[in-house]
Amino acid sequence: MTVAVESTRRRPRFVPMPSPAADAAAAIIAGLRAPMPTIAPRYFYDVLGARLFEAICELPEYYPTRTEAAILAEHGAQIAAVAGTGATLIDLGAGNCEKAARLFGALRPVQYVAVDIGGEFLRATLERLQQRFPALDMVGVEQDFAEDLHLPDEVDPRRRLFFYPGSSIGNFSPAEAVAFLRRVRAQAGDDGQLLIGVDLVKPAHILDAAYDDSLGVTAAFNLNLLNNVNRLAGTDFDVRDWRHVAFFNATASRIEMHLEAQRDVVVRVGAAAALRWAAGTRIHTENSWKYTPEAFDRLLRQAGFAQVRQWADGRAWFGVFLARA
Ligand code: AVI
Repeated sequence: MTVAVESTRRRPRFVPMPSPAADAAAAIIAGLRAPMPTIAPRYFYDVLGARLFEAICELPEYYPTRTEAAILAEHGAQIAAVAGTGATLIDLGAGNCEKAARLFGALRPVQYVAVDIGGEFLRATLERLQQRFPALDMVGVEQDFAEDLHLPDEVDPRRRLFFYPGSSIGNFSPAEAVAFLRRVRAQAGDDGQLLIGVDLVKPAHILDAAYDDSLGVTAAFNLNLLNNVNRLAGTDFDVRDWRHVAFFNATASRIEMHLEAQRDVVVRVGAAAALRWAAGTRIHTENSWKYTPEAFDRLLRQAGFAQVRQWADGRAWFGVFLARA
């Protein structure tokens, strides 16, 4: 006799974006028509962009990922001792979820919530992660949390530990960062905490190389933005008309990334009037702010966090901050 065995394998739950990028096309075109043309960095992360970003993190010049990983590996047990175990771990901008997965052992979360704008990539990643951690309750949330952080009912409200690694906070301006951290503070509740990675100020040549690597992977990441814009906004950019430009702006304490027209360029937008750029003009695609430890501590307190603890590597290139709501 054969007995039907019901599969008890846990599956991650997935909460898709309510209205998938409804206004993306209009917002992108408005940015391109602005006096200082811009494309928002959120559009870097289509499936290829997410993979290129993974490759950036492996580059010898791009120190933030491995420096942060080393800090978390060295001080993970101490961080867990301060933060406590058994929290709801909410990973903002989860990407391939690896950074959080490395902390599961020390933090022993009761639930893992991965929030990311790249829904397709996130769904596939979580399916694989669930196989490695079959007992852990996992929820995937497809959301542009930079705009509006809204956690669905599936997310456990108790003891929330937000995890925002990789210095993604640096992609907001300081004023936007405070506003964003206030939203995190509001979602954290009174027993919530935030574990956040921040890239620190350092000599310009190290920063320049990290954002203009010798293999050209960051250039491909920047240029791929145009392919994604073509899909989202119906434009016909040819990436070969553009070149990657990245440099540290010391006055503003930020890396700037731009795409510079290599010749006079005309780009069509469906049947609407064309967009034109003269050779040498630029589209600003990303900023990546760098902080001193004191400046970032102040920013956290301005956003309503307190009891800030921090850990850094020996060269003080990167900081990991743990703050209580
Ligand atoms: C995602 N973010 C923290 C990266 C950074 O360093 O600002 C994005 C990046 N852009 C170019 N390289 C990496």
